[in-house]
Amino acid sequence: MTEIIEAIKRASIEIKSIIEEGDTSKSDNQNSTGDTQLKLDIASDIVIENEFKKISSVKQIVSEEQENIVDINKDGKYLIAYDPLDGSSLVDVNLSVGSIYGIYENDFTGTNIIASVYVVFGPRVEMVIADGKSVKMYRLQKGEFNYIQDIKLNEKGKLKAPGSTQACWLPHHKEMVDKFFKDGYRLRYSGGMVPDLHQILLKGGGLFSYPSTTDLPKGKLRQLFEVFPFAFTYESAGGQAIDGFKRVLEIPTTHIHDTSPCFFGSNEEINIVKEAYKHNV
Ligand code: AHG
Ligand code: MN
Ligand code: MN
Repeated sequence: MTEIIEAIKRASIEIKSIIEEGDTSKSDNQNSTGDTQLKLDIASDIVIENEFKKISSVKQIVSEEQENIVDINKDGKYLIAYDPLDGSSLVDVNLSVGSIYGIYENDFTGTNIIASVYVVFGPRVEMVIADGKSVKMYRLQKGEFNYIQDIKLNEKGKLKAPGSTQACWLPHHKEMVDKFFKDGYRLRYSGGMVPDLHQILLKGGGLFSYPSTTDLPKGKLRQLFEVFPFAFTYESAGGQAIDGFKRVLEIPTTHIHDTSPCFFGSNEEINIVKEAYKHNV
């Protein structure tokens, strides 16, 4: 596992310069989800793949930006699913973006995730590692990732990050979000799940949602690359991650690019979601 973390550190230092100096225009390709890939997405993906290819303990990798699983080492132990540059369209407007990694054993399913890592590229570069028991944050300083702090969610927070197209919200979802704001929650939504979820974690709690909508009944966020890694991080920090009803990590994955509605938060907010959703299966 240490060599995987070291590979992520090296890749992140390279991705930092790609963000700073790279070409932010569109490529001619679409990824499996149908998004037009930016040149930055492709460049970051290549950097990460090249780093993981050097590691003997890695069996397979799969990227949000690639159609298929890539075999690395048949005797390897770990499977890694990653989103090389989440929120890449925000680079153009100089907002924070991130990379997300889920580390799995045996197969790419929520119940088999054993660690998660994300890296935020903002005014600072920070890496957050969850191992099921704790969540630790490191910051890039003079070329090294230094330990800064452990991250633990409070039982209740004050922030609400409501994703997706509001015009497509289902009535019970809209009612629930309105209620959070009536109860004093403050809006925090940049359109990048990495900085949005990082903010909620560091400010002690709150709720991020990307629900089922009339245009996207299965949500937008991808299970292996986005939902499962952050679910693992939130659970490791003492919070929860659900699809409205049950733990997202218990949702079966039928295809590597499957998406799922998702809610990440501290315990009190997630219990409110369960209550709001229970009659709306
Ligand atoms: P990606 O850049 O990998 O395609 O995904 C961005 C994601 C996520 O970071 C964010 O929370 C969400 O898209 C925003 O979507 P909406 O604009 O629909 O809220
Ligand atoms: Mn993404
Ligand atoms: Mn992406």
